[in-house]
Amino acid sequence: MAGSVFIFLARWLRDPAHIGAIMPSGKQLARAMAAQVAGTTGAIVELGGGTGTVTEALLAAQVDPKRLIVLERDGHLADHLAKRFPGVTVVHGDARDVRAAVAKANVGPVGAFVSSLPLLSLPSAECAAIVAECSQLMGADGRFVQFTYGPRSPIPNHGQFGLQARATAWVLWNVPPATVWRYTRAAAAA
Ligand SMILES: C[S@@+](CC[C@H](N)C(=O)[O-])C[C@H]1O[C@@H](n2cnc3c(N)ncnc32)[C@H](O)[C@@H]1O
Repeated sequence: MAGSVFIFLARWLRDPAHIGAIMPSGKQLARAMAAQVAGTTGAIVELGGGTGTVTEALLAAQVDPKRLIVLERDGHLADHLAKRFPGVTVVHGDARDVRAAVAKANVGPVGAFVSSLPLLSLPSAECAAIVAECSQLMGADGRFVQFTYGPRSPIPNHGQFGLQARATAWVLWNVPPATVWRYTRAAAAA
């Protein structure tokens, strides 16, 4: 864990807006994120894998590594993830290019996106491009899972992408405390 904190902090110093936090996600937050994919079928695409805390929780929740693709924009962190999880498809790339990454991995329809991206601190055009691509790639029962540190939906204009939002978990034991949100297609949400 200490090693991950050091790597994370070093990357944050280089690009704070894209790293978005000064600490990796805590284990409880990672578990709460991973719990959101229970019952899904199809590929699981993790966006912004960072040091791999959420990847580790997904594997601990019995997600088959063959179902899992992890996208990470920072080359140093992508290398770290590839070494740490040799059975998982790790893509060094931008979440805006998620369509190409999914097509190349040849894993079929996406059951869930699990995102640690700092959506609210990314330029709004970058955030919109990512959410638009993911909402189109999601199957009818697909999910987009995202955490945030603030009180509001981390995709404020989710309706524009045909998505419905629900806060599903509150994780106080995290620095800082976080809320997990789940987005589904507006027509599919109960
Ligand atoms: C909050 S950190 C990830 C935390 C991660 N769960 C962990 O515990 O290490 C956000 C990550 O998203 C990555 N990121 C930011 N913008 C991205 C983009 N457009 N495409 C892919 N990754 C991106 C950053 O490089 C960073 O690793």
